[in-house]
Amino acid sequence: MATTQTSHGILADSQSAAREHVVELLTRAYWMEVETVMSYIAASTNPDGVRAREIVESLEEDVDEELGHARQFAARIKELYGVVPGSKDFAAQQSFLQPPEHQTDIVHVIRGVIEAESGAIEHYTRIIEETDGIDPVTQDMVIGILRDEQGHRRLFEGYLREFEAEGTA
Ligand SMILES: [Fe+2]
Ligand SMILES: [Fe+2]
Repeated sequence: MATTQTSHGILADSQSAAREHVVELLTRAYWMEVETVMSYIAASTNPDGVRAREIVESLEEDVDEELGHARQFAARIKELYGVVPGSKDFAAQQSFLQPPEHQTDIVHVIRGVIEAESGAIEHYTRIIEETDGIDPVTQDMVIGILRDEQGHRRLFEGYLREFEAEGTA
């Protein structure tokens, strides 16, 4: 009969080091999503002008989606016996998503969103690689989230292309 430890996979006592590492990766992902929620609330509220309308509406939808991602990462941290951190541990990283000098500068916002999504794609790809064969449940969850982020980036690349074609980017 197999030992109970192996049958418990990532939740086995013997897997505590692997689990801690996954929780670290998930915690970073959680903070990225929380910061993105803040940035997208600002970026969907501040812009002025008719040309910003589509971007604003798209970001309004993304706020809810990114909040959903933050909740998924938090839940998985807990399932792996981690603790979701408090706000005092938060350190902002998204310098590129600060409000532009002029609120009609929608290209600044589009470029910032692409950078945020690219950072998420990079980190989530790493989680998928590092959980391979170790934690299939986290891997599966993050594959789904990665697909959302790829969709977001592709959408905003399309917006940027449109503004570039108009010669205003
Ligand atoms: Fe997200
Ligand atoms: Fe996203």
